[in-house]
Amino acid sequence: MNANLILEMKEIHKTFKGNTGENRQVLKAVNIEVKAGECVGIVGESGSGKSTLAKLIVHLIPATKGQIFFKGKDITCLSKKELKAYYRKVQMVFQEPLSTFSPKMKIGTYLSESFIHYENMKKSEAHKRALELLKMVGLCETYINKYPHELSGGELQRVVIARSIGINPDLIICDEATSALDVSLQKQIIELLMNFKKNNQFSTLFITHDLALAERLCDRTYVMYQGEIVEVLKGNDIVESAVNPYTRKLLESVFNMKKIKEVLEAV
Ligand SMILES: Nc1ncnc2c1ncn2[C@@H]1O[C@H](COP(=O)(O)OP(=O)(O)OP(=O)(O)O)[C@@H](O)[C@H]1O
Ligand SMILES: [Mg+2]
Repeated sequence: MNANLILEMKEIHKTFKGNTGENRQVLKAVNIEVKAGECVGIVGESGSGKSTLAKLIVHLIPATKGQIFFKGKDITCLSKKELKAYYRKVQMVFQEPLSTFSPKMKIGTYLSESFIHYENMKKSEAHKRALELLKMVGLCETYINKYPHELSGGELQRVVIARSIGINPDLIICDEATSALDVSLQKQIIELLMNFKKNNQFSTLFITHDLALAERLCDRTYVMYQGEIVEVLKGNDIVESAVNPYTRKLLESVFNMKKIKEVLEAV
């Protein structure tokens, strides 16, 4: 095994049972690798299996067949203690940030609690760390006493990212983390992610509909079509180098050039 590999998915299959008991194969022999410090993209049209893939990685659902290795260790056979460590090392940022928060919990508590839980920090230390992280994601100290409903979608997403980064993960999975935001908020989050990417502090799995966004952010991008990886594109010329007919189809169907241009030109 390559010591540089953070995540390795080998021949992953996932089948769901439909309402009438029929089997629906949602992932078919998927192979994915993420190396240390890499930002890897997963693009594909709606229903192609991207979120299912993410849920398998964060251990929310089991694979039907295949193996998932995290730093060389099969995650299906982790002990309780190892699982706790795994949940700290692999963080997920969802599309809809509000669902991550408890409405009665202040932002400061949301941040500090995870630092106390995962980093064994004292309360005062965790509070200090929460303030530092809020600053790092561009939010001032007063946010520590606010409730989730008092924040915009972009601000909430920044708090989620602050929490994820704050517990020193090896891998952050962003599942359409910017899709629910308007163009200017998308810009803020993309800038934030690009800044962190520059420092290579962790690896990122960036799930998106937008090939142009993946092109801008990712070192390597897997294209999914109906549960299969149909193409792996390297570097920054996704749109130019894509040859697979499904990728070309995806480019035509989901690549909203105008909207993405607006976002990227603003960054
Ligand atoms: N728990 C489940 N039970 C049955 N079918 C499911 C389940 N979860 C997902 N599916 C099906 O699996 C397929 C892939 O879903 P998934 O959410 O992974 O797609 P996606 O690529 O993330 O789509 P989107 O871009 O719209 O978020 C879909 O057809 C979906 O209906
Ligand atoms: Mg999804």
